Amino acid sequence: MVESFKAFVIDKEQDGKVKSQFQQLTTEDLPEGDVLIKVHYSGINYKDALATQDNNAVVQQYPMVPGIDLAGTIVESNAPGHDVGDKVIVTSYDLGVSHFGGFSEYARVKSEWIVDLPNTLTLEEAMIYGTAGYTAGLAIERLEKVGMNIEDGPVLVRGASGGVGTLAVQMLSEIGYKVIASTGKKDTADTLKSLGAKEVIDRLPIDEDNNKPLASSTWQACIDPVGGAGINYVTKRLQHSGSIAIIGMTGGNTYTNSVFPHILRGVNILGIDSVFTAMKLRQRVWRRLAKDLKPENLHSIKSVVSFDELPQQLDSVINHHNKGRIVIDFGVRQ
Ligand SMILES: NC(=O)c1ccc[n+]([C@@H]2O[C@H](COP(=O)([O-])OP(=O)(O)OC[C@H]3O[C@@H](n4cnc5c(N)ncnc54)[C@H](OP(=O)(O)O)[C@@H]3O)[C@@H](O)[C@H]2O)c1
Repeated sequence: MVESFKAFVIDKEQDGKVKSQFQQLTTEDLPEGDVLIKVHYSGINYKDALATQDNNAVVQQYPMVPGIDLAGTIVESNAPGHDVGDKVIVTSYDLGVSHFGGFSEYARVKSEWIVDLPNTLTLEEAMIYGTAGYTAGLAIERLEKVGMNIEDGPVLVRGASGGVGTLAVQMLSEIGYKVIASTGKKDTADTLKSLGAKEVIDRLPIDEDNNKPLASSTWQACIDPVGGAGINYVTKRLQHSGSIAIIGMTGGNTYTNSVFPHILRGVNILGIDSVFTAMKLRQRVWRRLAKDLKPENLHSIKSVVSFDELPQQLDSVINHHNKGRIVIDFGVRQ
């Protein structure tokens, strides 16, 4: 029986400002769900950092425990097929948005959100991947479905020093793609090359050239967690039938584009949503992350922090000082 436990809670004050603090909660405070999980690890995503900001569009109700990712063991279950002791991963859905999330020593969730931990992955490795890795994997899956393949030329990854970007560089390289990494952090070039990037370039647009609707064909595909004006820069440089997977908006949430890359070169824009992916596809992507890739290589991109360090780490993410993946270790040892 769990008496009380520590959680990171955000609330909206009367003046509309969002305030965050650690609190002791009981299981009575947790939302409805048929499975109670003891959280061993969580991870920090950009969305979690946004959730702590005033006027954010992430949190749907207050108070809220943010944290869109968690991995741990089931300690209570009313769900057939999910037993006490099972190691599980939960990412996205309503977690940390309208349902208390992973920045908590315990979480109660709906069993339909659960992915069983693949047996080639540790709980820590699952959170090095987290939503960032899962989303990069989902983007690769979608891009390959529309024709991306290792024979057809380089693949660009934007925001390469961030969570989604680093994992996309690592996964694509491991599969055999020639990866070009675009980053604003020059000091990450060696790390990105050690993860497999063949070339590291500056953030895009490097120098927005002219108003020409097309430029020379440069990349077969792009994984784009950055958004903004760079999308236009990239689409006019994709090869014939190339595709860009749009994931995020750290560099802006709007862009203007000409129709010409699409109608003259058959360029595709794919939208990637990791939150409500169908469970079958979700499980397939996790199986791929666990089996086709080499989880043991993930450890070079992690920074492991204690739960107490969470507030400072959220600040570093919102200010874009983070690199790779930040994993929160709740100190559970079995
Ligand atoms: N669609 C989905 O389901 C989904 C899933 C996961 C994440 N996302 C979104 O994807 C984005 C990235 O998430 P993340 O967790 O990887 O975040 P992150 O770890 O904070 O990485 C974001 C990266 O964006 C780049 N960046 C920041 N400001 C920029 C600017 N002004 N111009 C260009 N690049 C800039 C930086 O990379 P460099 O310094 O290397 O350039 C930064 O490291 C976020 O918008 C997030 O909400 C969406």
